[in-house]
Amino acid sequence: MSIVYNEEKKLFHLHTSDTTYVIGVYDEGYLLGLYYGAHIEDTDFGDFMTRLPNASFSPANPVIGEHGFSPDTAPMEYGCNGAGDFRIAALSVRGKNGDNVTDVRYRGHRIYAGKREIPGLPSTYVTDDAEAETLEIDAEDPVTGVSVTLVYTVFAQYPVMTKRVIVRNPTPDTLYVERVFSACNDFPTMDYDLLTLYGRHVRERSLEKRPLSHGVQGVESKRGVSGHAQNPFAALMRRGSTEDSGDVYGFNFVYSGNFSALAECDFNGSTRFLMGINPTDFEWTLQSGEAFYAPEVVCVYTDRGLGEMSRIFHRFYNRHLIRGRFQKEKRPLLINSWEAAYFDFDTDKLLAFADVAKELGIEMLVMDDGWFGKRNDDRSSLGDWFVNEKKLPGGLKKLVDGVHERGLKFGIWYEPEMISPDSDLYRAHPDWAVHVEGREPMRGRHQYVLDVSRADVRDAVWGMMEPVLRENGIDYVKWDFNRNVSDAGSALLPPNRKKEFFHRFILGTYDLMGRLVTTFPDILFEGCSGGGGRFDPAMLCLSPQIWTSDNTDPIERLTIQFGTSLCYPASAMGAHVSACPRTGYETKGNVAMWGTFGYELDPRKLTPEDREIVRRQVADYHKYYDLIRTGDLYRLISPFEDHFRAAWQIVSADKRSALFTFVRMRSYTADQCFVRLKGLEPDRKYTCQQTGRTYSGAYLMRAGLNMTHIVTGDGESCTMYFEG
Ligand code: DGJ
Repeated sequence: MSIVYNEEKKLFHLHTSDTTYVIGVYDEGYLLGLYYGAHIEDTDFGDFMTRLPNASFSPANPVIGEHGFSPDTAPMEYGCNGAGDFRIAALSVRGKNGDNVTDVRYRGHRIYAGKREIPGLPSTYVTDDAEAETLEIDAEDPVTGVSVTLVYTVFAQYPVMTKRVIVRNPTPDTLYVERVFSACNDFPTMDYDLLTLYGRHVRERSLEKRPLSHGVQGVESKRGVSGHAQNPFAALMRRGSTEDSGDVYGFNFVYSGNFSALAECDFNGSTRFLMGINPTDFEWTLQSGEAFYAPEVVCVYTDRGLGEMSRIFHRFYNRHLIRGRFQKEKRPLLINSWEAAYFDFDTDKLLAFADVAKELGIEMLVMDDGWFGKRNDDRSSLGDWFVNEKKLPGGLKKLVDGVHERGLKFGIWYEPEMISPDSDLYRAHPDWAVHVEGREPMRGRHQYVLDVSRADVRDAVWGMMEPVLRENGIDYVKWDFNRNVSDAGSALLPPNRKKEFFHRFILGTYDLMGRLVTTFPDILFEGCSGGGGRFDPAMLCLSPQIWTSDNTDPIERLTIQFGTSLCYPASAMGAHVSACPRTGYETKGNVAMWGTFGYELDPRKLTPEDREIVRRQVADYHKYYDLIRTGDLYRLISPFEDHFRAAWQIVSADKRSALFTFVRMRSYTADQCFVRLKGLEPDRKYTCQQTGRTYSGAYLMRAGLNMTHIVTGDGESCTMYFEG
């Protein structure tokens, strides 16, 4: 890792463990993005500085010369709006004259060891300055006076670079930021496929790959959260690259609100890629002396295919994104009351769950939705975070103590950013619901969104939550969010600042969550949004695991977990065994074992045979815990490509052990099937614990396993554990 400035050539070279990124300072201070890819040391990038202009239709900077340089075709490091670059702009700032022509030029730079936090925003981190190096480039628009700092961090142990932007107003006038993307990359060619993760409730993060074509394409969220519909992830895959080979650039936005990931291919066949806050419904007023901090983008490059991109994200997130006590400490194996009881529970029922759970070896009972106010269905009480004594007579403490006495930990559910119209909180403060004056806000699941952009509202929620968590010995919190944000408006925002709402809402969420996480470092937080509707890296900074989907059917979970694994590690992926009718408990356990693992069923209803299976799964959970959370994932058969089977494998960092899982979704006639493993050492001998047979790594990777007769029926599966 190193960041070097070549004074003579005016080039910045940013090297990670395996990659190089080159920025040039061109004539008149134009900043050019010259190279991003595998490691190179060369210092002559003259050929890359300019590209073929579109005749007189690509305006040239007259100081440089009529035929020399056009911002329309140059590889701009941070393309701005309206000054000769007609591609999608990363930055647009309106000045006192009312125009939004923006043109920032190099002014200076700093290089320092380590990485700084971003005020108010979650981000990746280092624990030692030797783990990363940061470059800050200052650029300024001489007309509006807006100043921009482009911030790049490269990591010593990972081929990862983070990018972000700070916009400052050093002028005496007010400036208006109309758009500010966090990452802008101009690639010289367009021979890429754009890979993104689309979805919906109960079908999150499906893979979608499209060839880049001329014009603008991409994905976005305007839902107030990152959302089920699109994840803030995108990859550019060089055409022809696969799971195991080829150039892949992965981008993941550390943000939970409205985002855009856009690619534009121009007439020269060049590609601009942008990732950042969605400019739709966004504008930020920057008063004199103020700064706006844009969230960061994690950029991963590899020339070894999509699988390697995922492994880099996983290792990096486990080390530099997820934090706190449970980054490394073993997390308790939980049972959650939701699919077991929904709203229909009381102290006795929960204690009965705890009795059986304890006997099965489960370590924590989580009481889901329905414990507060008068909530017996989803029509009321969000915001009234006081225990319902009809359900829990004697209060929460009595229940929690009862669970603790049985030797289990205790977890609780909250949905802090919501308010039910039928709640005491709403009756007292109707203006605390997100709304615009004069309009009845839309309802989702019978609820409004609570205006956590307001400090007074956050204080009120804190005032209700903090004593519950402190006084009752709570060990775990599930933080839910069950609708998207419509009617975006806050009673406190003046008319000229209405477009700040969405970002302020997310900043408010981070503030409230951050306060709780910091005050209660021993509580394990699990993110959730109607399943995986807010599964993003920013949430992983605050909660080391996220409920992946409300869909707990193990066959349907396959695509959801394969898609989620594109950039998120197994340690983050909430996965439970439920009582859903499809498949037996073996397959449910084998699929959930890939994630955080837990149960979501009435344990009293398990047959003696199923209880035996659960006991074995609990033992496997402990046995494979470290391997699954720290090992390298290899996707072997993708359910997006094969409609009959799926297979994956997790290999320990030292390559001495591997867990292979095979699921037959549907059987069909003459279903011959060989699966070749990956990531092993060819010369090492591996013994399969289940069959006792010993193979060389070469055999397993080249000949493979013959699964034809091992797993034959619909919904059947197996795991094979190899040690060598
Ligand atoms: C949605 C979550 O995804 C579920 O697991 C459950 O917590 C419900 N909300 C409760 O309302």
